[in-house]
Amino acid sequence: MTQEAYVTQGPLTTEAGAPVADNQNSETAGVGGPVLIQDQSLLEKLAHFNRERIPERVVHARGAGAYGTFTLTRDVSRWTRAAFLSEVGKQTETFLRFSTVAGNLGSADAVRDPRGFALKFYTEDGNYDLVGNNTPVFFIKDAIKFPDFIHTQKRDPYTGSQEADNVWDFWGLSPESTHQVTWLFGDRGIPATLRHMNGYGSHTYQWNNAAGEIFWVKYHFKTDQGIKNLTQEEANKLAGEDPDSHQRDLRQAIEAGDFPSWTVQVQIMPAAEAANYRFNPFDLTKVWPHEDYPPIEIGKLELNRNPENVFAEVEQSIFSPAHFVPGIGPSPDKMLQGRLFAYGDAHRYRVGINADHLPVNRPHATEARTNSRDGFLYDGRHKGAKNYEPNSFGGPFQTDKPLWSATAVSGATGTHEAPGHAEDSDFVQAGNLYRLMSEDEKSRLIENLAGFIAKVSRDGIAERAVNNFRQADGDFGKRLEAAVQALRG
Ligand code: HEM
Repeated sequence: MTQEAYVTQGPLTTEAGAPVADNQNSETAGVGGPVLIQDQSLLEKLAHFNRERIPERVVHARGAGAYGTFTLTRDVSRWTRAAFLSEVGKQTETFLRFSTVAGNLGSADAVRDPRGFALKFYTEDGNYDLVGNNTPVFFIKDAIKFPDFIHTQKRDPYTGSQEADNVWDFWGLSPESTHQVTWLFGDRGIPATLRHMNGYGSHTYQWNNAAGEIFWVKYHFKTDQGIKNLTQEEANKLAGEDPDSHQRDLRQAIEAGDFPSWTVQVQIMPAAEAANYRFNPFDLTKVWPHEDYPPIEIGKLELNRNPENVFAEVEQSIFSPAHFVPGIGPSPDKMLQGRLFAYGDAHRYRVGINADHLPVNRPHATEARTNSRDGFLYDGRHKGAKNYEPNSFGGPFQTDKPLWSATAVSGATGTHEAPGHAEDSDFVQAGNLYRLMSEDEKSRLIENLAGFIAKVSRDGIAERAVNNFRQADGDFGKRLEAAVQALRG
């Protein structure tokens, strides 16, 4: 569908529906006189305009979204009892919002940044949100570091710009970021379009089956369009010429019926294997190498419908890692645990207490039955129903069936680091990733990193940053050091 379909008939009106006689001239006391307060049409128009914005997302502000369909292609019932994953061929409506992380709402699309890959499944048991990225790992592994991390990516409080000093100071002092930074400055750091990149759930999640058995799972969405990337040079040019390049590409592809799709895979780890796995399976800075847990194809995701109104459906869309359905739950990943709080809190601030009930956000394949009421912009959807539980009037009741299975815990409370497993280190997987790259890709990676590191104002910050890559791989460190020195002189 294209925009021409949305034609409005009839006269222009005020918000209250009265016809507007003149939308070019405001009402004055005589010709050339001052404007009258009785011109409600003018006052209403100016006042409404002043209130058109809501706070942009504190991260991932810039994004584009589309509706689609998820089709299950493999029986996964031995691992999860999730209803939308119950039957081969079953289809579930979805909404996917892509985003960049650091840029503001009006920033350019073609930049080096992870891409958000936030997917909502409108299932019969409520909405299931998988709020991932186009990268399988992340920069940090504890939610308590997230605000500091993001402060270094966003604008400096004094200069008002992103500062290389802050970015590299934080990354250098957070060696666990080395894997994700190596990924980000490699070829996949700037996707050519939103259609030509993969998506990942990134965290480990819990699946539980009808018998209550637990499996740890990682999701992968492999683009059927093939991976295509931009070089730094191409991106710099495109970002300048067409800041909306990725959003436009997605909309136009869907308008043209060229529906992008992704093959959905999962890696599955039986719960009993987690304790002795060579890497901590709940560490977001690590992948599970495919030779350990081969990806299993389970479905297809297709995007096939553009939103009708970007503000209503994309800007006001909300996704939360805490939106689970029966058969799926959280893992003890400390990042994920922090996110379980952060998103709902952000939604209540950014969109309001009734955000869950907007058309894009509410369940589409069932209805929400809560005793929550009222608040700003409450639409009266519960009509005259009782608003407490338990009640004797046939109101909604609890099921006594938890969405996920219980996991054992032990030990004393404390600000513990996540436990390290036999092969865990901050550098091992960054080194493996580097060694997997072709010679050309290594050269581009070094050039991209050196160009940015060279901008820092202090030698100590540059040296510490380089040292992390040196620990990942000796050749990586040597070449990067030489490239940074050549640029810094
Ligand atoms: C503890 C770490 C994190 C915290 C506290 C955090 C917090 C937030 C917040 C507050 C938002 C804005 C939500 C809104 O206003 O609607 C957001 C958006 C987002 N985050 Fe995170 N985040 C964290 C880590 C991550 C990770 C690890 C990923 C991916 C693996 C991720 C992916 C996203 C995506 C895709 C969005 C955009 C969602 C949308 O399209 O509306 N975040 N995050």
